[in-house]
Amino acid sequence: MFFFNRSKKSSYSDFSAVGLDMHSHLIPGVDDGAKDVENSIQLISGLKTLGFAHLITTPHTLQEIHPNTKESLTRGHELLNGKLPEGITLNLSSEYYLDDQFTDQINSNGVMPFKGNRLLIEFSQISRPHNLEESIFELGIKGYQVVLAHPERYLFFHKQFNYYTRLKEMGVELQVNALSLTPHYGKNIKTIAEKLIENDMIDFIGTDIHHVKHLELLKEVPTTKHFARLVDSGLLKNKELM
Ligand SMILES: [Fe+2]
Repeated sequence: MFFFNRSKKSSYSDFSAVGLDMHSHLIPGVDDGAKDVENSIQLISGLKTLGFAHLITTPHTLQEIHPNTKESLTRGHELLNGKLPEGITLNLSSEYYLDDQFTDQINSNGVMPFKGNRLLIEFSQISRPHNLEESIFELGIKGYQVVLAHPERYLFFHKQFNYYTRLKEMGVELQVNALSLTPHYGKNIKTIAEKLIENDMIDFIGTDIHHVKHLELLKEVPTTKHFARLVDSGLLKNKELM
């Protein structure tokens, strides 16, 4: 059994041990992430400096605000052809919000899963979707593996930590946001993220980067003891997506 020494400091100074970032908003002009090609390249170069060699970017597909499709995202992705810094790969997926458009895209084969038929899923941070478990079950029936984006950010789960166990038992993989290991989203979110790591419940770590301010904040993450705990646990599956 892995023993977690609470006083131990991190021996990591960057994200190279993770290698692949699987949650980011790097496609120009399609969501609340990168604004234009120049901004995209700035973010991608910054991620390279942080130690990543592979990126799978996940712009929002969210019917009411960012009603993207495979086609609109692919067009955006193509704008970056031939412009990437050397030594970095950029592949495309999406962060899917559980809504009617997502259901339509599932039914018409219009989604872009990660390797392993995994889909990065999010939903309201204010109230739990009434059909959450049915949706997860349905996706499983259709052969998809659900990866829940930033479980620590759903405030309604905080008082029922056992629900995370329930999700894991349902086969859901959990992706912590790197910045949740810093005070960026607030103390409660940090506490839950740390608890998920201490309980060996995290499968993926992602930057969820939207803008250049995040680059500066991300520098701090590898030096935190929970980042070291997560990487040293051997449980991270980021590299399985390569
Ligand atoms: Fe995101």
